Amino acid sequence: MLREYMSTLTPRSQSALVNLLVNKKKMITQQSIAKVMTETDRKYFLPSDAKDIYDDIPQPIGFNATLSAPHMAGVMLDYLANHLKSGANVLDIGSGSGYITACAAKLVGKSGHVVGVDHIQELVDQSIQNVTLALKATNQSDLLERITLTVGDGFLGHPDKQPYDVIYVGAAAESLPVDLVKQLKIGGRMVIPVGPANLFHQLLIVDKLEDSSIKIKSCGVVRFVPLTSKSQQLHSGNHANATKVLDLNGNKCLVRAEIIPAPDSQEFKNYEEKYNKLILGINSNS
Ligand SMILES: C[S@@+](CC[C@H](N)C(=O)[O-])C[C@H]1O[C@@H](n2cnc3c(N)ncnc32)[C@H](O)[C@@H]1O
Repeated sequence: MLREYMSTLTPRSQSALVNLLVNKKKMITQQSIAKVMTETDRKYFLPSDAKDIYDDIPQPIGFNATLSAPHMAGVMLDYLANHLKSGANVLDIGSGSGYITACAAKLVGKSGHVVGVDHIQELVDQSIQNVTLALKATNQSDLLERITLTVGDGFLGHPDKQPYDVIYVGAAAESLPVDLVKQLKIGGRMVIPVGPANLFHQLLIVDKLEDSSIKIKSCGVVRFVPLTSKSQQLHSGNHANATKVLDLNGNKCLVRAEIIPAPDSQEFKNYEEKYNKLILGINSNS
């Protein structure tokens, strides 16, 4: 009985992992997201010597970057599910291994487009290989022509293909990057962790309304590697420790920020106000 229970917590396949996130952790609620994550196997996005690849933890991919924990990818994609529709234009900032880019490409299909931006050339090169293999495995290689994986500074987005229906930011910014907000389409949605580097972050949903103003909702406290400069990332050496696995008396013990209810989101109301007032000249009290 105990062994059976433990095996549900230490999945040994992609489908068991997604099953855990849907049925036990209740972190994925949308069927489209469960389906796409089941079909997009983490094994294609990790180094060949990676261990415990279906554990619900972030995994190092080199250059002080990680493939995000599956629950985190699931939660963020879940918030975006209604926008990740056939034909949508998507921007994946901090695309790292390419996992989110691949999932998004499958969701938006042949009439959509996905741009993945990372500032490390080697990660972009590797992500192209990862995405190619993963799409081939599900006979979806035709989607490759609908994907751009490119080197760039994520703070600046990717103006060439704007405006975006969806912006997924896979690293934490200290404040809301104005260029990303500008590149969001009216009716579009961005999900982004925001907060001080190496501390905890608020996971924000940013919706762009009809009048181009934005509405921000904070959905919880999370912990991410920072959206930062290339030299800071390569030389600070602590980013991959956003999740630590400790060994306590031979037992693996995961120290991780789970998603907890959002505290007072006044701080993020201030972002909303600042952007709407300063950038657009819209006074939220009027
Ligand atoms: C958590 S990791 C990768 C997440 C990715 N979604 C995945 O699951 O593989 C965050 C990524 O953000 C990238 N990154 C950090 N700062 C950046 C910046 N200013 N511009 C572009 N990419 C950045 C890192 O190189 C890293 O690959």
